[in-house]
Amino acid sequence: MKPSTARKTLDVRIRRLISFEEFRELLGIQRRVWRHDETDLTPTHQFCISAPMGGIILGAYVKNHLVGFIYSFPAVHHGRIGQHSHLLAVLPEYQGHGIGKRLKWAQRSWALKLGYDRITWTFDPLQARNANLNLHALGALTSTYIRNLYGLDSKLNLGPGIPTDRFLMDWPIREKRVAERRRGRSDNLDEEALPRALERKDGTAEFLPGTTRLGLTGKRILVEVPENINAWRGRHEPIASWQKGLRRAFEHYFRRGYAAADFLFGDRCFYILEKRRTPRR
Ligand SMILES: CC(C)(COP(=O)(O)OP(=O)(O)OC[C@H]1O[C@@H](n2cnc3c(N)ncnc32)[C@H](O)[C@@H]1OP(=O)(O)O)[C@@H](O)C(=O)NCCC(=O)NCCS
Repeated sequence: MKPSTARKTLDVRIRRLISFEEFRELLGIQRRVWRHDETDLTPTHQFCISAPMGGIILGAYVKNHLVGFIYSFPAVHHGRIGQHSHLLAVLPEYQGHGIGKRLKWAQRSWALKLGYDRITWTFDPLQARNANLNLHALGALTSTYIRNLYGLDSKLNLGPGIPTDRFLMDWPIREKRVAERRRGRSDNLDEEALPRALERKDGTAEFLPGTTRLGLTGKRILVEVPENINAWRGRHEPIASWQKGLRRAFEHYFRRGYAAADFLFGDRCFYILEKRRTPRR
């Protein structure tokens, strides 16, 4: 697998944000990172009330300049209490320097101190780079695929008419697998040896998905995803067909007891599904 990017070492400080002035700065970061309309922004008053009510809001500073932040709040999912992480953003010119990862690990430390066992968050399964961060670097898992979570009109979609499908990630922050990822340890898997439920169609110039294979039964199964879906923004057809293929594969294998548990990032990118429990009825 190829390394992410060449990185310059930056002196980054992470600290908890507590004041109204600090929260107001988060609007500017959201506008730049997501190019949100005013109605899509998480407002200052949401941060002001979350902070004293058990939320964790951390800022990353380079030379006293706020360059990124992470925001989570207490949540209950299927009766289990955790923090739900709703926003993670690093200014474009500071991305790829390890700041996003540091914010996640700092969020974990705070959550552990506060007595939590898990952190959840959502992300778009079509985003390979985020998948690499979430499943590979951090060791989060998912067996929950949510169709069109934020609606079709949301600015969070990849283009007009593309549903905002999301994974709900589960980060079991006290478990050994997460502690090992913290130390940079992960399994070495040979992707050539594993069966593929979805992969690029052979023999076409376009990078389009082939037919989803639903009859696989091994311990580990691969699901391919394009390396950089953002480069296709505005092109409905290839994005919609990859989304359809992923939806079909994940919904099918999640029902049969598989979880997306790791990610291989390279010239070709693959989710690794692992059999973890007996199928849902
Ligand atoms: C997602 C985001 C917060 C990551 O922050 P970042 O500071 O750029 O990320 P980092 O440099 O800490 O990299 C963290 C991990 O992301 C992945 N990553 C980062 N850059 C990558 C690249 N160019 N290619 C592949 N993977 C990459 C890697 O897994 C990396 O871990 P590694 O160094 O162990 O390989 C940032 O890119 C961002 O703000 N994106 C826009 C908003 C967004 O998508 N938010 C998250 C929604 S889930």
